Amino acid sequence: MSLLRVGPSRTFVDGTVGYGGHAEAILQGSAPDGRLVGLDLDAEALAAAGERLAPFGERVVLVQASFRQLRDVLRAQAIREVDGVLLDLGVSSVQLDRRERGFRFAEETASETALDMRMDPSRGETAADLLAEASEETLADWFGRYGELPGSHRLARAIVEARREAPLRTAADLIRVTREARIGRGRRHHPATLVFQALRIAVNDELVALEEGLAAALSVLKPGGRLCVISYHSLEDRIVKQTFQREERGCICPPRDPICTCGRQPTLRRVHKRTVRPEPEELAANPRSRSARLRAAERLAA
Ligand SMILES: C[S@@+](CC[C@H](N)C(=O)[O-])C[C@H]1O[C@@H](n2cnc3c(N)ncnc32)[C@H](O)[C@@H]1O
Repeated sequence: MSLLRVGPSRTFVDGTVGYGGHAEAILQGSAPDGRLVGLDLDAEALAAAGERLAPFGERVVLVQASFRQLRDVLRAQAIREVDGVLLDLGVSSVQLDRRERGFRFAEETASETALDMRMDPSRGETAADLLAEASEETLADWFGRYGELPGSHRLARAIVEARREAPLRTAADLIRVTREARIGRGRRHHPATLVFQALRIAVNDELVALEEGLAAALSVLKPGGRLCVISYHSLEDRIVKQTFQREERGCICPPRDPICTCGRQPTLRRVHKRTVRPEPEELAANPRSRSARLRAAERLAA
């Protein structure tokens, strides 16, 4: 809340409102007249957030949309500029714990866990659809880029062979093929963890969404406004870090050029050069925060 500089008479966007935990803190911290626009792709999360945030009345508006569309959502609310944008990426604890959403797998229940993984379960293709339809090259590309997985080609081939016999429908089907392809043996995590991560990123086009969401956030922030992003794995964090570095530098001319010809000015100032990590007390109270990294930046005058 302090990095977002939450306070009265300001307008904030929570681009990943989820079950409304951060949103509630922003609304409390911006009383009596601060406003919040909350976005999420997940209708069920938004309904729960709506109930939680009802006491704040007209100070809050919730919209089912991707943070990619943040600019259009604000325009529809006749809001041109905001004082702060928060993105808390990935999936919520509630989504993780709902077996039918397929975001998490546990060996014991894997045969009942559908391969869905959509943030908005009312539209788009599920993980099972992608596993059934994607070419071997595309699968290998996803596992390589989104899972940073050694053996991505071997796994892609194993999936294509397995689906000739029967479609992969459950987490257990995918775990079995991952094992047969000898993926991730001897690693700290379950061998299928990075396979699931890669599929989830592909199903929701998460990295492109993040790049577009960051650009949209920058385009609506007032000078002095803050952008705070919490990410949970290195692929997301790298995009946030590189975007902040690029916007802080301004100039995009090749380093060998003797003088700047692009004329681009810095648009951001990083509030912390490094990431903010959870304190030990937070880790003890909320072990799922262990991989969280927060980066914060301030919009400069154009
Ligand atoms: C870590 S949770 C956020 C939890 C929230 N901060 C809270 O206090 O309850 C991430 C949320 O982002 C949503 N989400 C993921 N990608 C999104 C996107 N591109 N646009 C909007 N919401 C998204 C998910 O549906 C999920 O509810």
